[in-house]
Amino acid sequence: MSLGAGLSIVLLAPGDEGVVLAGADLFDAPPTAAWTAQFLSCESHHLLAAVAGDDVVGFVSGVETTHPDKGTEMFLYELSVHPDHRNRGIGRALVEALADRARGRGCYGMWVATEPDNTAALATYRAAGAAPPEPCVTLGWAFDLAGPTLPGPELQLAGWALAQPHPSQV
Ligand SMILES: CC(C)(COP(=O)(O)OP(=O)(O)OC[C@H]1O[C@@H](n2cnc3c(N)ncnc32)[C@H](O)[C@@H]1OP(=O)(O)O)[C@@H](O)C(=O)NCCC(=O)NCCS
Repeated sequence: MSLGAGLSIVLLAPGDEGVVLAGADLFDAPPTAAWTAQFLSCESHHLLAAVAGDDVVGFVSGVETTHPDKGTEMFLYELSVHPDHRNRGIGRALVEALADRARGRGCYGMWVATEPDNTAALATYRAAGAAPPEPCVTLGWAFDLAGPTLPGPELQLAGWALAQPHPSQV
């Protein structure tokens, strides 16, 4: 997609890790080479970058999620445009490009969550065709990654127990 004035939107693929790392300041925290490579290698994960010359000036990421009773939809994970390049239509173009990719992949829809006071994000999503916002509450868990990464004995036991027939079925 061309936005004029040397701006274009490109779909990143495995091997494009350097493009992501070059736009590190667009992310909440510096991306790592390993996580970037993992993201780009997933067929259901999508990262589109807005490029101006040699500069990465924006990106949008999306992840397809599939559920047995719903099919596949696109979750718009992150959207960011460099402050020097805002209000030129780049954010909207990135969202529309991800929506196009979602349609092409057979997704039945796309969704995103943002803060109620994020005026720029709300305006951008509405400009890109999103339906009016619906109230939603989010909850999260923070895990201690310093702990063991493999299931402990009790979890293995629970898995073994789950694999056994229920007493009522014996
Ligand atoms: C949200 C963000 C990506 C928008 O990028 P952008 O390139 O400036 O957006 P666009 O120029 O494409 O603007 C799209 C629409 O939103 C409107 N808009 C953009 N910023 C706005 C603002 N601060 N207040 C009101 N409207 C705004 C534009 O006028 C435009 O509307 P139009 O198409 O009807 O004319 C950018 O502000 C950003 O990176 N913010 C910080 C990160 C963030 O909050 N991301 C979203 C997380 S969910």
